[in-house]
Amino acid sequence: MKILFWLPQADASAWLHGLARALPEAELREWQPGDTAPADYAVVWHPPRELFAAPGLRAVFNLGAGVDAILALERDQPGTLPANVMLVRLEDSGMGPQMGEYVQHAVLRYLRRFDDYALQQARREWHVLAPHPLETFTVGILGLGVLGAQVARAVAALGVPVRGFSRSAKTLAGIETFSGELHGPQFDAFLSNVKLLVNLLPATPDTENVLDARTFGKLARGAYLVNVARGTHLAEADLLDALGNGTLAAATLDVFREEPLPAEHPFWREPRITITPHSSALTLRDEAISQIADKIGALARGETVSGVVHVERGY
Ligand code: NAP
Ligand code: GLV
Repeated sequence: MKILFWLPQADASAWLHGLARALPEAELREWQPGDTAPADYAVVWHPPRELFAAPGLRAVFNLGAGVDAILALERDQPGTLPANVMLVRLEDSGMGPQMGEYVQHAVLRYLRRFDDYALQQARREWHVLAPHPLETFTVGILGLGVLGAQVARAVAALGVPVRGFSRSAKTLAGIETFSGELHGPQFDAFLSNVKLLVNLLPATPDTENVLDARTFGKLARGAYLVNVARGTHLAEADLLDALGNGTLAAATLDVFREEPLPAEHPFWREPRITITPHSSALTLRDEAISQIADKIGALARGETVSGVVHVERGY
């Protein structure tokens, strides 16, 4: 079996060694521009369009949960991802616990007002601030998939009320769930009284700019935003306006329309925005290789695998 590998801006050798250990029968090669030789599988992150033309390709494994970069290639040039090539994304593979910790940290920081204390410290001010009441600090999770469901449980363990929103109905112990269309009546019911909104939706044409003035205006006044999904979900000017007029109190952003965030971007100058460099949940090499190797083994035996992307749905 022949496997292509593509991971930009990273040392591929540790990945290739790991894949070779997990799949000793495989012939592995790092894809290079101009490579048009046959391959059965590809393991990639942000691949170039030309890689998908490899003759015999059966499945492409994405080294992350979000497949928006690959589906954008298909949208821009239909047929890039041939209909018979399966696209499989990572499912958790160690990202869920990381995302849970990241969001727990943001919840505790805002609940106990460490953000306000940091601003006070910069001004050398000493005032005790009342923490937010736990029972009204409702956390809303947009997206209750593999990661959203884990984050919901992690946040519920802190004792705050937690609710979640997804396209299809879900039942999760201890979590109030809502489902339906974004901006529909269930979405409005989900947003009402939410004090901290976490975004864990996939980036699709339907979810672009979902974090906008309309959405912010339906949250509890002075709510907090945590965006750990994709930069295209956020209407950036609306966030700055919402922080300026008190609709939102603060935001923690891990993802941006342009990454790295350009030095001149106004988010860097806004003290109520906390920035991390797309690091809320990293792809863990050993976990990812083990999951992909298991799935390649299953496909080679003619079995089905989970995590197959519905291209027409966008995730
Ligand atoms: P997932 O399992 O596919 O979950 C997606 C969730 O979003 C599902 O609950 C889905 O509803 C819901 N959804 C999708 N479109 C919707 C719509 N139009 N309206 C309402 N709900 C909608 O994905 P995941 O593994 O949890 O990952 C989520 C995203 O996190 C990824 O796509 C990626 O962009 C991001 N991510 C970021 C990082 C980082 O480091 N910052 C790391 C990993 C992932 P259904 O359940 O009904 O289908
Ligand atoms: C990271 O952003 C991922 O989608 O896994």
